Amino acid sequence: MSFLKGLFTSSKNAPSLAELETDIHSHFLPGIDDGCKTLEESVGLLKQYSNVGIKRVVCTPHIQKEFYKNTKETISKAFVSLQDAMKEAGLNLEMYYAAEYLIDDHFEELIEKDEILHFGKSRFVLTELSYFTPYPRYKEIIKKLQNKGYTVILAHPERYSYWHYNLDTLKELHRDGVLMQVNLPSLTAYYGNTVRKQVITLIRKGLIDLAGGDIHNQRYMNAVINVQKEKAFGNAMKYNVFKNKLLF
Ligand SMILES: [Fe+2]
Repeated sequence: MSFLKGLFTSSKNAPSLAELETDIHSHFLPGIDDGCKTLEESVGLLKQYSNVGIKRVVCTPHIQKEFYKNTKETISKAFVSLQDAMKEAGLNLEMYYAAEYLIDDHFEELIEKDEILHFGKSRFVLTELSYFTPYPRYKEIIKKLQNKGYTVILAHPERYSYWHYNLDTLKELHRDGVLMQVNLPSLTAYYGNTVRKQVITLIRKGLIDLAGGDIHNQRYMNAVINVQKEKAFGNAMKYNVFKNKLLF
């Protein structure tokens, strides 16, 4: 297809994060995971996001059995504090909260109990896999979630090294309705060149649906802002690869 041929070779107009409108993956809620540490830090970063034209942000703190046992209570409490601080700072972004769920047995228990935080118009649930080895029954767990009427999003597929040389599983999940969300910093080689190459491959193969900042702190924010200079980002925007704004 001709548009694919030109996908990573030309970019005339400067691409902008503003066109994304919505970030669906972020760690702005302070003090409850490995993201922002203080309200001041969160508000400072969100101001920068607003300045580049982002309009809507979903806060997705980690929920993991081992390290981050967040619940609806811990997350909503942090969310209310952040909203108050944003109001005080005169910052007007549309904010939502959900979570980034590591697919493990704890997640499966939450599905059984119907305690899943979701967002957007199709009950979107953001999930992630371990970077070392995926949980053995992850496909089954994804199915279970889909059968309950949720739309599953898999975060940063480009970062799972066990898929770097074989895309079969990723293709299968995508075919079965799992939406794939790349991290914007991946396009700047923030995680190294192998991940950068992988993200470009996945976009070229039509396996990517969404983009997220996965912003934890200022370093991530800098990488996200810098992605606007990347040709691959410009072309992905030009060909509407990222459907972020359609989720609400
Ligand atoms: Fe994340």
